[in-house]
Amino acid sequence: MKVDVLLGLQWGDEGKGKVVDVLTPRYDVVARFQGGPNAGHTLEFEGQKYVLRSIPSGIFQGDKVNIIGNGVVLAPDLFMDEAKELEKSGHALVNRLHISKKAHLIMPTHRLLDAAYEAAKGKNKVGTTGKGIGPTYTDKISRNGLRVGDILENFEEKYAAHKARHEKILASLNYTDYDITEVEKKWMEGIEYLKQFELVVSEHEVNRLLRDGKSVLCEGAQGTMLDVDFGSYPFVTSSNTVCAGACTGLGIGPNKIGDVYGIMKAYCTRIGAGPFPTELFDETGDKIRAIGHEYGAVTGRERRCGWIDLVALKYAIMVNGVTKLIMMKSDVLDGFESVKACVAYKLSDGTQIDYFPYDITEGIEPVYVEMPGWNQDLSKISSESEFPQAFKNYIDFLEKELETPIVIISVGPDREQTIER
Ligand code: GDP
Ligand code: IMO
Ligand code: MG
Repeated sequence: MKVDVLLGLQWGDEGKGKVVDVLTPRYDVVARFQGGPNAGHTLEFEGQKYVLRSIPSGIFQGDKVNIIGNGVVLAPDLFMDEAKELEKSGHALVNRLHISKKAHLIMPTHRLLDAAYEAAKGKNKVGTTGKGIGPTYTDKISRNGLRVGDILENFEEKYAAHKARHEKILASLNYTDYDITEVEKKWMEGIEYLKQFELVVSEHEVNRLLRDGKSVLCEGAQGTMLDVDFGSYPFVTSSNTVCAGACTGLGIGPNKIGDVYGIMKAYCTRIGAGPFPTELFDETGDKIRAIGHEYGAVTGRERRCGWIDLVALKYAIMVNGVTKLIMMKSDVLDGFESVKACVAYKLSDGTQIDYFPYDITEGIEPVYVEMPGWNQDLSKISSESEFPQAFKNYIDFLEKELETPIVIISVGPDREQTIER
């Protein structure tokens, strides 16, 4: 069996949670491979809305196995809140959620370090989610991390040593005005809470499941433009959000990857700081934000909005090896006279390029193709045959430019508002 990977192609929040939930009935296993509680994956069904942060979006559908892989960073206190909330709504997790012992723990002091580094960057700050993601991955890479498996033995001792090291760094950054007594207490409760879950060596588990003929869907977090190698560095997250991250974040060989589903919105958004070539600062951008409810699921911040960027998308399709595209939030563009798609960048020296350059920070202007809008409500449509002609033209144009089929079109937040082609 092969593993299918589903990931975001833009700056996150493309609608990954919704699609994973829709596709889950076709898989035996859903696994997260990177990121942590910086993610906010929204699912809506039967009039209920859920936002998942660290728990895979396969958790709502039957007794699928859900795995948190070694590539994930886990905050025990936030995880406990999230899991308890799900239990309260009737979705017990204990036997269905397996957690890699190699996943790294986000400590309270990692969150302080996140804030301290942001403060030190001043106007160049990344605009992180403040969840301690960067400092935790930094500790992992510099071989200083604390892992889920560490909670099983001499944990207090290990924790104290890591905390002391962090306190020294915080002092060197003049970041000393904090009191984590309460947070730490809850964090330790979270550690105890974690122990009731099956703590696994996820690479053995995933490969065994594949050998047993089980199908696996990997759920990406963030998006390709936030990838630490290929995104708009340094305004990125600290993990590999691209398809290769599924190999390293779960322990799967590249030859085991099957389909790669690339998720994109019919337009584009970004939250936090950093370059965004097609960003709209006018009432069109405000209109997209209002209709699309473009506010962060984790921080509530306004999402910046703009037209779809095909230059960036082609690049994302390339680095991920995307085989199938999924277009979300098409209904948000229902009321526009015309829609635009960026097909090239004009650089500050006047040259025009149609490939994603080394750096998109300086003076890039988008070159647009403008198409008539469809001016029709898509949200109640249930089959492709009902699509208005102008919307079909938009899809055809995107498929031709991106040289990849769009296999699913989402026309609303609900599970049911999903059209397969
Ligand atoms: P994720 O992080 O990629 O899972 O995406 P988020 O959950 O952060 O953001 C996507 C938002 O769009 C959520 O509020 C979803 O409920 C909503 N959504 C998803 N698909 C659609 C759609 O097709 N139309 C509309 N109007 N909303 C959608
Ligand atoms: P999902 O999975 C959108 C952004 C932050 C910030 C940058 C670095 O819901 O798509 P971090 O806290 O990771 O160090 O922040 O990345 N960011 C996201 N933006 N969706 C996300 O996740 C994000 N996770 C992080 O806003 O700009
Ligand atoms: Mg999100």
